[in-house]
Amino acid sequence: MNQIVVLNAGGQYCHLIARRIRELGVHAVVADVHRPATDFRGARGLIISGGPASVTEPTSPSVDRAIYELGVPILGICYGHQLLARDLAGRVEPGTTKEYGHSSLHAGEGRLFRGLPARQFTVWMSHGDTVVDVPPGFVITGETDDCKVAAMEHAGRRLFGLQFHPEVVHTEHGTEIYRTFVFDVCGCREDWDPRARVDQVVADIRRAAGDRKVFFLISGGVDSTVAFSLCARALGPERVLGLYVDTGFMREGDAEAMQYLTTALGARTVRRVDRSADFFGRLRGVIHPEDKRAIIGETFVAVQEDEFARLGLREEEWLLGQGTIYPDTIESGGARHAAKIKTHHNRVERIQALIDAGRVIEPLVDFYKDEVRVLGEELGLPHDVVWRHPFPGPGLAVRCLGAQARAPVESLEPTTIPLPAGAEGWIVPVRTVGVQGDERSYSRLLAVAGLGEAEAAGAFARRVTNEHRTINRVAAVIFQRADAAFGRLAVHPAALTPQRIAVLRAADDLVTRLVRARGLYDAIWQMPVAMLPLGSGPGRETIVLRPVNSRDGMTADFARLPAPLVAELAHALGGLERVDAVLYDVTNKPPATIELE
Ligand code: XMP
Repeated sequence: MNQIVVLNAGGQYCHLIARRIRELGVHAVVADVHRPATDFRGARGLIISGGPASVTEPTSPSVDRAIYELGVPILGICYGHQLLARDLAGRVEPGTTKEYGHSSLHAGEGRLFRGLPARQFTVWMSHGDTVVDVPPGFVITGETDDCKVAAMEHAGRRLFGLQFHPEVVHTEHGTEIYRTFVFDVCGCREDWDPRARVDQVVADIRRAAGDRKVFFLISGGVDSTVAFSLCARALGPERVLGLYVDTGFMREGDAEAMQYLTTALGARTVRRVDRSADFFGRLRGVIHPEDKRAIIGETFVAVQEDEFARLGLREEEWLLGQGTIYPDTIESGGARHAAKIKTHHNRVERIQALIDAGRVIEPLVDFYKDEVRVLGEELGLPHDVVWRHPFPGPGLAVRCLGAQARAPVESLEPTTIPLPAGAEGWIVPVRTVGVQGDERSYSRLLAVAGLGEAEAAGAFARRVTNEHRTINRVAAVIFQRADAAFGRLAVHPAALTPQRIAVLRAADDLVTRLVRARGLYDAIWQMPVAMLPLGSGPGRETIVLRPVNSRDGMTADFARLPAPLVAELAHALGGLERVDAVLYDVTNKPPATIELE
């Protein structure tokens, strides 16, 4: 089979590896690291991914050692590299310090480095343990100042290990390294193109559905719209039913996709129901993001069952359709070893039970976001629908933060964290989700006024979050009221209410319109707008801009917005009723997440 299998040892990077391979035109799938070697006989090559565990611990993920005897080329990345060393009688030592970030690799004569224009280049490292002795028969093919065995290989057996991550954009020549592995070493052909997959997916849907019909909850976002359209193409409009549930947490303008679907498929196939009262009711007083997500997930299922009953759809005749895509399954810890970053609403317990019972159909579960867009274009969906920024299922609910008690911002002592000249900083008494070293964090936000241009602000954010583990996010203060200086603001008790969501929805819509008007919407991958109950009194708010660029949501850089646009956004948002301050989040993922929740 012309296929590469990525053995998932639990890292956030594992899907990224598969994504890179697919970009080269070769199909790559992710498989559990423990699967028996016989499962991989047909693969052209195996890649063992990185992961948060340590190979020096007996319970950490390991492979069936028979894979080394298959004669199939194997590339170990990071944790995978250490696993190769351990399994084949090399030596791995627990690290005393963690090497994290950019390093300079001195590349030797390794086969994977053949044809590269440079012998020394930047690579991205993220590890604690290190390989200290290569296994018998292996040679060291690359080193950095801090890591003597940054690359190793056994040319005869076609076994390779890389301590760094060639799949992240920060590694120079990463794509070429994968290209060499996939084509030269494994002998793959270039034959993967999502464009050509529509027929296959359609056939798969027909097979999975049998004579059953598919019921979908559609959100107006690209994933559910494409997934639903594929089901409609496969089964015909009379065998699909799409229900748009207004949760109360949708964006302004999610109606575009609905309009398209209604026109294409008919009003009997696509329906709308307002269940916002249920959602607000169940979320009363809930503040923790994981709790919100769990409740929203459960409410979705309850509402769907309710609507199912109301519509009189017989269980044995209907499947539940979902627009779940590949990365959704790993970040929920769906893969056995991934540290739990957060629960995806498509993977809450009750949905999982339905999946286990074979009652769920997820046509996009093998695709990445940009592949879904390609499928959408292939299906002829409108540009604005296909290129709409991604929006999380739980919607504005997760972006609208709450607080239990009043707490003022804390002025930053210059001795704790030195600030650029003329800048002023405050710890905001609000915690937000981040991801640090494959693990989830829930830490504090640092707001700074006078940080300067985006580039300098970003560099500051990187330094602070590296040096201070209790801070996972840095935001620039881009607007504060003359009569409500930032340093005098406080967080006030607040929960999710329709009134607060209305403020956030208006802010989000304003940002979308302005960014579209400046022709920058398509240039930014996603731009969550969040809200903190931070202001001069109860009911006053702070809006946070979170523009990011990313390939697939797994890692991201905050987007550098042109200064005039920042000023324009600050001015416009500052003019909204109830808004006392506007922040611009300048943190990358990691250490923050894309969503601010
Ligand atoms: P984070 O915040 O984890 O987000 O860096 C990564 C990407 O995933 C999206 N996201 C979701 N999408 N349902 C979705 O459909 C969800 O529950 C969900 N949570 C996060 C997020 O918008 C970003 O693009």
